[in-house]
Amino acid sequence: MTQLRAREPLTLPEIAAMKGAGPKIVMVTAYDHPSARLASEAGVDLILVGDSAGNNVLGYESTVPETMDEAVMLTSAVARARPRALIVGDMPFGSFQASDADAVANAVRLIKAGADSVKLEGAGPMASRARAIVGAGIPVMGHLGLTPQSATKLGGMKAQGRTARSASQLLADSRELEAAGCFSLVLESVPARIGTAVTEALTIPTIGIGAGPGCDGQVLVWHDLLGINEGPAPRFVKRYADIGSEIRRGLQAFAADVRSGAYPGEEHVYKISREELDAFEAELRAGDGSAKA
Ligand code: KIV
Repeated sequence: MTQLRAREPLTLPEIAAMKGAGPKIVMVTAYDHPSARLASEAGVDLILVGDSAGNNVLGYESTVPETMDEAVMLTSAVARARPRALIVGDMPFGSFQASDADAVANAVRLIKAGADSVKLEGAGPMASRARAIVGAGIPVMGHLGLTPQSATKLGGMKAQGRTARSASQLLADSRELEAAGCFSLVLESVPARIGTAVTEALTIPTIGIGAGPGCDGQVLVWHDLLGINEGPAPRFVKRYADIGSEIRRGLQAFAADVRSGAYPGEEHVYKISREELDAFEAELRAGDGSAKA
């Protein structure tokens, strides 16, 4: 039987120790095997198999339609890359809201698919879900601020915590998730000063996406940071590559070569010996009287 090499992902104590002490925590989303391999080779600390797969790879208009079966399939593809990065499986909308029991059962599915931990959006009743999942022995990452699964309730994909009242609520929710046992917290689209205030108030690391440089780490979505998504982007997106143009350039070159006959070239074809070819042609002639000599 084949023995798999032991996988040694970053541990939770290692992540906890990165709080405030620098270096900052680096997280990216990835949704498939080659991306997870590349992220791991690039030395990222955490890979989030985000429900943003919904709009980035599955073609939905938002994260909301992503199903548990889809999340499990994507998580298992990432896990098979056996990355050194800790894998965070994102809990899709509808997979944890109904009850603690549902939340634990679906978190278990992501762990069995290869995630090391799970992430869920929200506080209040969702803090109870986080507590239940942690109680089942599964590490949980919280997610507050702009939580795309409840964007309609939040008034759209808008920055949050921009009033004293909502910033105070964000801080209270963050403390609630910390008390529920979350090992870290994503803060999405909140003013930088509020990102810093929440980070300083918590003992667990915060990972910001549009929450300013004061967070303990940063996350960006794969398709945004690599320039695969090319339209207008949220303010916090920085593009580090232009993969969309590169893919288009490669595909156009392939199409042009196929159409002109430049591909496949001599170096791309398999050869057969003269002797075997002669024998083959003789067989053809024998089987078909019309074949030319
Ligand atoms: O699904 C996702 O990509 C996320 C990030 C925005 C943190 O939740």
